[in-house]
Amino acid sequence: MSEILLQIDGKEVKATQGMTVLEAAQGAGISIPTLCHHEKLEPFGACRICIVEVESRGWTKLVVSCVYPAEEKLIVRTRSEKVDRIRKTILELLLAHAPDSQVLQDLAHVYGADKNRFEKEASFCIHCGLCVRYCAEVKKKNAVGFVDRGIRKEISFIPEIASKECNDCKECFPLCPTSYLQAAFVLTEALAFSSPSE
Ligand code: SF4
Ligand code: FES
Repeated sequence: MSEILLQIDGKEVKATQGMTVLEAAQGAGISIPTLCHHEKLEPFGACRICIVEVESRGWTKLVVSCVYPAEEKLIVRTRSEKVDRIRKTILELLLAHAPDSQVLQDLAHVYGADKNRFEKEASFCIHCGLCVRYCAEVKKKNAVGFVDRGIRKEISFIPEIASKECNDCKECFPLCPTSYLQAAFVLTEALAFSSPSE
């Protein structure tokens, strides 16, 4: 793989062809916030919090850094007025789902996001998909999946699979940025099956 040179926040950064901007930044110790990214999973590009400003051939645009490829001579700004404003709004929308999430609160503090800006949503899942994708891609079990679409989209455990696989695993639990996943599991367990210790 050939080496490329780009500039991130004024710093010359080496990366290899095929890397994303997020990976190039992380490799250089530059932090970009993420909510749906996980190094073991395929990029998903859902939460948009990793948005950055890039400049190439005289054009400036906003891109999602966890899916955007690092290019030779690309100029990347991980913080700018526009980037920070968008991250603030994204956080405010997500906080309407999960105002008590520590991960969201920490980011809200950095970007000055107001957790009361938008009306509260009924579900505290932020649809990052970490649980669903981890179970499918890493564990290859598909014990949890998305149901419905659009605003009705929710994650749901599949009781037939979850009853066999989840009690000895639960590796997805710490990945959830809110506590929705644990709550959904407890509910599924109570309604559809009980753990062997009960
Ligand atoms: S339950 Fe948690 S990990 Fe799963 S999609 Fe929702 S917020 Fe993400
Ligand atoms: S971390 Fe890039 S879109 Fe979620």
